[in-house]
Amino acid sequence: MTGRPVLGPPFSLVAFDVIDSTNDEAKRQARQGRGHGTVVWAREQTAGRGRRGRSWASPPGNLHVSVLLDAGRPLARAAELGFVAAVALVEALEPLAPAAVFQCKWPNDVWCDGRKLAGMLLEPADDLVVLGIGVDVVAAPSPALAPAISLREVGAAASAEQVLEALCGRLAPWFDRWRAEGFAPVRAAWLARARGLGRPIEVRLENSTLSGTFSGLDDEGALLLQLPGGERRRVLAGDVFFPNA
Ligand code: BTN
Repeated sequence: MTGRPVLGPPFSLVAFDVIDSTNDEAKRQARQGRGHGTVVWAREQTAGRGRRGRSWASPPGNLHVSVLLDAGRPLARAAELGFVAAVALVEALEPLAPAAVFQCKWPNDVWCDGRKLAGMLLEPADDLVVLGIGVDVVAAPSPALAPAISLREVGAAASAEQVLEALCGRLAPWFDRWRAEGFAPVRAAWLARARGLGRPIEVRLENSTLSGTFSGLDDEGALLLQLPGGERRRVLAGDVFFPNA
């Protein structure tokens, strides 16, 4: 399918053939008064951005989308939306490639059969949050830090439009549940699909690297790392690697 995606409530679509970054456009839309549920979708991005200042290759055929969400109060909990979105995306993708194994990777990636398939970038937009999601549907331009895979490589014939429709279909109920029940059910669903849980990992921080066992998520979404000496560290920002994978 190459038509215009049909999205249910609360979503309303703003579509572009080419844009710099859907996250940047979503912020512009928020400044112009667009609100919760605005979905900015572009077939191609010329300046797609990833986490920690990295660029995000965004060829036609892949999914590049940003959603304006009202995270409510306190805005500090907005980071939890990355976990909401990862769970929603995994649930959306599983029926499209039933033989593939989809996993959530801390903090905000979705991996498929051991490689990175999708990433998320959360940014503030006035009183709202921009949830940017990139999914490698037809091509996997390798991100610098991880091996990458596309949905095509695991046999999914779905188009970016179909992935967007499926994603919004799962994002709406998960967002409502998060608003109504808080982070606990999201955390449980995320941990049930977590990549590397209970296994040795490396976490690259700004200026150092920690090695230990990935022992869980705390109730704010921080990664819990059991160090070899027994100490448990909370990690709020970093890149996770799987040395023995
Ligand atoms: C990452 O894994 O580093 C996050 C990648 C996020 C990419 C998406 S594509 C849609 C939205 N627009 C952007 O410029 N970035 C996000």
